[in-house]
Amino acid sequence: MQLLDGKIASAHYKTEIKNQVNLILSKGKRAPHLAAILVGENAASKAYVASKVKTCAELGFESTLITYENSVSQQELLDKIKFLNDDKNIDGILVQLPLPKHIDENKVIEAIHYNKDVDGFHPVNLGKMMLGLQSFVPATPNGIMLLLKYYQIKTEGLNCVVIGRSNIVGTPMSILLSRNSEPGNCTVTLCHSKTKNMKEICKNADIIVAAIGKPHFVTSDMVKEGAIIIDVGINRIEAPETKSGTRLVGDVDFDQVAPKCSFITPVPGGVGLMTIVSLMKNTLLARALNN
Ligand code: GUN
Repeated sequence: MQLLDGKIASAHYKTEIKNQVNLILSKGKRAPHLAAILVGENAASKAYVASKVKTCAELGFESTLITYENSVSQQELLDKIKFLNDDKNIDGILVQLPLPKHIDENKVIEAIHYNKDVDGFHPVNLGKMMLGLQSFVPATPNGIMLLLKYYQIKTEGLNCVVIGRSNIVGTPMSILLSRNSEPGNCTVTLCHSKTKNMKEICKNADIIVAAIGKPHFVTSDMVKEGAIIIDVGINRIEAPETKSGTRLVGDVDFDQVAPKCSFITPVPGGVGLMTIVSLMKNTLLARALNN
């Protein structure tokens, strides 16, 4: 078993990005600038956004963090997004999800100009991705593609099972892995809450991408010997043995599954780091579109 180490792979891509930023600066141009909008007090969202802002600084990007209380109105958010769309000094805009129930996430996503939609959630970008055209690709599935590429994993002709059909991860992942590219060219099965015979389907998989948000959902009896396991889950569970009383685990029962597989991503230290790198690559691309 070999770890697909997000720390090592993300460090490689970060160096590439830093070099690109230096090139931009050497031409007397300004650095890429990401605006992040965070609503409310969700601890996980706060941590993710803080990590994105920190990585911007590390790579020489500018960033602007805009925070709102949970009670912010939808109109106030839409007005802010319009302001950021019109601001020539802002290249990328992200609104951290989930949003409070009184706000329509689709309306908010559609308000972001598609050339600044570095999350790749706007219908124009999702449509272009489906057609194989140049677009912003959602950060987590794109990060997984970058991880597979870094470790030179040949995926052509493999049976891939994606568990979870979210707009953010599962659905775009199934498209990316099935298209005619390297990595790609997989035969993809997309499993979800209504899937029958999940265990049998998974047992036939050469690659499993677990993105359901349930701790330890994928157990060793679901995994074929030699399979490649990509764990997207970041779940906080109680752990009385730790100082904080909690710890992070993935959607895969790592200890059980790792001995059976050829490659596996750890949690933390796997896909999460690739998501951020992928967001940074998108922001660099947005900078080029915003010349
Ligand atoms: N919530 C969970 N994942 C993401 C992500 O990749 N982007 C945003 N904006 N919100 C998220």
